[in-house]
Amino acid sequence: MDRQGLVDAPPNSLEAVAAGVDVCRRCDLWRDATQGVPGEGALHAPLMLVGEQPGDKEDLAGRPFVGPAGGVLDRGLEAAGVPRGETFVTNAVKHFKHEPRGKRRIHKTPDTGEVQACRWWLDAERRIVRPRVIVALGATAALAVFGKATPINRNRGQAFQLPDQAQGVVTFHPSYLLRVPDAAAKAQAFEGFVEDLKFAWSLAA
Ligand code: URA
Repeated sequence: MDRQGLVDAPPNSLEAVAAGVDVCRRCDLWRDATQGVPGEGALHAPLMLVGEQPGDKEDLAGRPFVGPAGGVLDRGLEAAGVPRGETFVTNAVKHFKHEPRGKRRIHKTPDTGEVQACRWWLDAERRIVRPRVIVALGATAALAVFGKATPINRNRGQAFQLPDQAQGVVTFHPSYLLRVPDAAAKAQAFEGFVEDLKFAWSLAA
């Protein structure tokens, strides 16, 4: 691998992905991020969960879904009866895109070019883990997993055959569930999230 993380041969282990992500220069997001955040979980997990990008906490910890969105994801998995230890959790984009606001770092949605550039790493994780089912958490993840814009609401509750033999499922991003303002709507959205995770797990089992 060269110093820009641009490799000719695709990585063939999760260790190589982790090392490559951290030195990746395929887009400019590395400049303001603390580190690259690779996926983590069981090597041959039947279920892969793909989020958008690391948040503030994940950027500092170097691990996916360890902040508030990770808390929602954990609660959803528990309610759906899915052991997180039997999943592989990752993101469409491996560096935290943000802008400063005072002392805070405010999340910015990655653009299509950044998602496209980072598919090198997501595709490597998919080839190595070979999950039976991939759950795209939100629109950015769906763009990365399916390679085209895939609206969440219209496509929930269905399984789509992916070229790598996995089946793809979409659901809400956990951060969206945190932002729903009305308590009843929030509870309903969480219930839907749990149903989607149960559906995905039933396909993976
Ligand atoms: N949101 C994501 O999409 N991924 C994380 O790892 C954390 C928050």
